[in-house]
Amino acid sequence: MYDIQKLREEFPILSKCVYLDSASTSQTPRCSVEAMCEYFYEYAANHGRGAHHLARKTTEKYEETRSLLGKFLKVTPDHLIFTKNTTDSVNMVANGITWKRGDEIITTWLEHHSNLLPWMNLRKKGVRVTIVPHENGYLNPLTIQETITSKTRLIAVTHMPNILGTAQPVEEIGCVAHDAGVQLVVDGAQSVGHFPVDVTNIDYLAIPGHKGLLGPQGTGALYMKDPESLNCSIFGGGMVVSVSHKAVKLLPPPSKFEPGTPNIPGVIGLGPAIELVNSLGVGNIHAHEKQLGSDMYRGLVKIPGVNVYSPQGTGVVSFNVAGENPNEFARKLDDYRKVCVRSGMHCAEPLASSYHCAGTIRASVGCYTTKDEVEVLVESVRHLTGNA
Ligand code: ALA
Repeated sequence: MYDIQKLREEFPILSKCVYLDSASTSQTPRCSVEAMCEYFYEYAANHGRGAHHLARKTTEKYEETRSLLGKFLKVTPDHLIFTKNTTDSVNMVANGITWKRGDEIITTWLEHHSNLLPWMNLRKKGVRVTIVPHENGYLNPLTIQETITSKTRLIAVTHMPNILGTAQPVEEIGCVAHDAGVQLVVDGAQSVGHFPVDVTNIDYLAIPGHKGLLGPQGTGALYMKDPESLNCSIFGGGMVVSVSHKAVKLLPPPSKFEPGTPNIPGVIGLGPAIELVNSLGVGNIHAHEKQLGSDMYRGLVKIPGVNVYSPQGTGVVSFNVAGENPNEFARKLDDYRKVCVRSGMHCAEPLASSYHCAGTIRASVGCYTTKDEVEVLVESVRHLTGNA
């Protein structure tokens, strides 16, 4: 296990509040912020465009992050495209495949909008989208297998739904998909950096930079098993070998997927954040977050009037308090002890609505969360519900 107090020194903001909203976005460590400052103060230039020393250094640092992410996921770096976020990554897949009318996509009731709306949007092209149910927060690979038809081309599943925090059997779903000759997209918004992710059975993995990887907002990536399997869906500078008014010759991946000036400071800031996560050990992070999630679950479930939706042992715990609006209760938690949680539909309205509530209160932990902070949450809920 790592030294959590030492780790917290990397995140000055954590001494000012009880931050339990890491599923929304993680706090950013000093090493990442300093790397971005160094870029702006010492060598800022554009990426891949210029012979001068600033441009060369920028390109080198930007590509260093791609190599670090590649090592982290145990994949070759040219299978990784930098994107803005998970949503952008999923959209690149949805818009990069040549669909035919009648093609089918299977997705699930557990998805947040990022891994739902890009697929639903394809209905305009005559693509059929089937939504499979979950069983108490978990996907059953057999249900998915039974839903596959001869028209199914793609299965898109979350690795960990942002309301429930339940780890999904994506390896098994990958086997089911590949046995049927279907591709698998995994939404890693809540998994990458929180527990080990094996891409063996995954065709496309959408990766946020600003959650489990602790990088800055506006960073993300897409892993593609076959970088030639997608068409480019955006076009512009930096993606070509040559252009005339008649023809365009594209660079090989990943460059052809990254036109325009990217989020250079963000990607450079992501590098040291990945190194930090690596040094802590994803297995250690997972064990730590699972323990805290269990503590949170056990503490909350005992409070009269509190309804917990997540099962025990997840680092993301959604709950409601009888007679309380989730947004108003979240505000009370903040006012009382500066406890920061997310509330509402969590950009996963179909799943949230299935609980017949006006949204949920969601507390989520990160690698830097302490047992004391979880206790503050539980004590605050007890206090605010008159159960102190
Ligand atoms: N997807 C993010 C969340 O779950 C924003 O809060």
